[in-house]
Amino acid sequence: MRVLVTGGCGYIGSHMVRVLARAGHEVTIVDDLSTGHEDTLPSGVRFAKLDIRDPAVRELMKERRVEDLHFASRIQVGESVRDPRLYFRDNLAAGVALLDHVLDAGVGRFVLSSTAAVFGNPIETPIGEDHPTLPINPYGDTKLALERALIAYGRAYPLKFAALRYFNAAGAWPEEGLGERHDPETHLIPLVVKTALGQQQSITVFGNDYPTPDGTCIRDYVHVRDLADAHLAALVHLEAHESGFFNLGTGSGSSVREVITAVERAGGKPVNVVWGERREGDPPVLVAKAERAKALLGWQPTRTLDEIVESAWRWHSRV
Ligand SMILES: NC(=O)c1ccc[n+]([C@@H]2O[C@H](COP(=O)([O-])OP(=O)(O)OC[C@H]3O[C@@H](n4cnc5c(N)ncnc54)[C@H](O)[C@@H]3O)[C@@H](O)[C@H]2O)c1
Repeated sequence: MRVLVTGGCGYIGSHMVRVLARAGHEVTIVDDLSTGHEDTLPSGVRFAKLDIRDPAVRELMKERRVEDLHFASRIQVGESVRDPRLYFRDNLAAGVALLDHVLDAGVGRFVLSSTAAVFGNPIETPIGEDHPTLPINPYGDTKLALERALIAYGRAYPLKFAALRYFNAAGAWPEEGLGERHDPETHLIPLVVKTALGQQQSITVFGNDYPTPDGTCIRDYVHVRDLADAHLAALVHLEAHESGFFNLGTGSGSSVREVITAVERAGGKPVNVVWGERREGDPPVLVAKAERAKALLGWQPTRTLDEIVESAWRWHSRV
């Protein structure tokens, strides 16, 4: 396949690019490097340093006759609450501009990086694809709005799409020099690993009195390489099947305490934990119902929490 990856220099996109390149697909990357890293680029891929809104992206799509995987986005929930215009402009308006390029260039298949944030506070868990979508922050609002645009466009135009709602992406691919490098980092596993490595003093855990077995929040961590595999499975699926929404998770989940213990096990070093108050808007459990992706895409995560943490540990402790 010929595939265009927007955001291919970011955390998940860079893993995607490796998976595609290794499988022999022809890859074009569009990334403005606003949060991405050029040093993730492997040889043999075409890289265009462009904003997804740039009309040159449409020309690239036409010239290369690609399918599109769309990762490029702002991703910080807290920032989206403080400064929502960034998210409506750079996620929603830019996403709609990209979809214009997709339609104008005659791209047939489009895969959106969506998120569990489209569901808001869960009414039931595990969360299936048909769970009501009621985001509680602008980040989730903008992803849901893009999903809605895809539904309408898919009905009106010759475009097939898959919206993949990831729960928590985690882990690294140290052998390929890839790992999680967000600035600021807000995700649990890199923060716990950095604490164990002494790169930061402590990790604050928000709440230990939740109605969960050990009192800390439970989230559904999926290895970033498993997520990349799901995108490839979705592109293949769309060749012969209808558009759809897929929740990508393990179906079980791990607590914050379990993550900390896994990091201590992987690194053989204690983690300095500060116990803080609960944060507003943090549901006790966020876990995906994982059946649809398994049944229709033939996809399920293969890597365990220990493998996720071990890969993150090796990547963060590189010299
Ligand atoms: N990381 C997670 O746990 C998680 C969970 C759910 C969903 N997602 C979604 O996955 C996608 C990738 O997340 P990530 O963690 O890899 O983020 P990231 O910040 O590491 O990567 C985003 C990439 O997109 C590029 N980019 C941003 N805006 C752009 C624009 N307008 N034009 C061109 N390039 C642009 C950045 O330079 C960066 O390389 C996002 O859409 C995010 O919403 C991530």
